[in-house]
Amino acid sequence: VEQSYIMVKPDGVQRGLVGEVISRFERKGFKLTGLKLFQCPKELAEEHYKDLKAKSFYPTLIDYITSGPVVCMVWEGVGVVASARKLIGSTNPLQAEPGTIRGDLAVQTGRNVIHGSDSPENGKRETALWFKEGELCEWTPAQAPWLME
Ligand code: GTP
Ligand code: MG
Repeated sequence: VEQSYIMVKPDGVQRGLVGEVISRFERKGFKLTGLKLFQCPKELAEEHYKDLKAKSFYPTLIDYITSGPVVCMVWEGVGVVASARKLIGSTNPLQAEPGTIRGDLAVQTGRNVIHGSDSPENGKRETALWFKEGELCEWTPAQAPWLME
């Protein structure tokens, strides 16, 4: 099944937006299978963002992500990766549509509150990077038959 690795970044945790973010994914109807508050070590941040290593903002990005606890989540469901990207909105919060998480709750790319995997492959890769096997929980929400026929 498709998985998206979703993370409330340190600014979102410091600003008290964890519940708001979780709520939006819950209400949409995706299934939460992993959740933890976590202080990200520098090595993990570097591995997570290795594709951006050449960018000028990379050092500040690593400082940002390791500056305080993050909330790590795995959400599952058909089409969850692309749908989560829509719920999250554009990378630059000033360009993100109202109604999206970044569009409603942030003003700057360097403090954009949330991460979401950009492909199903990266959803699997990032889930394996941030969670150990035993930390994920397979379960059937009671509302399942009311979400999909
Ligand atoms: P993620 O869901 O966090 O991966 O964001 P994204 O997929 O919308 O953007 P991308 O993967 O291209 O960049 C990853 C993160 O790097 C962004 O979410 C920002 O936090 C940060 N970032 C990207 N571009 C810039 C930039 O120009 N300046 C700064 N300061 N940070 C940037
Ligand atoms: Mg990205």
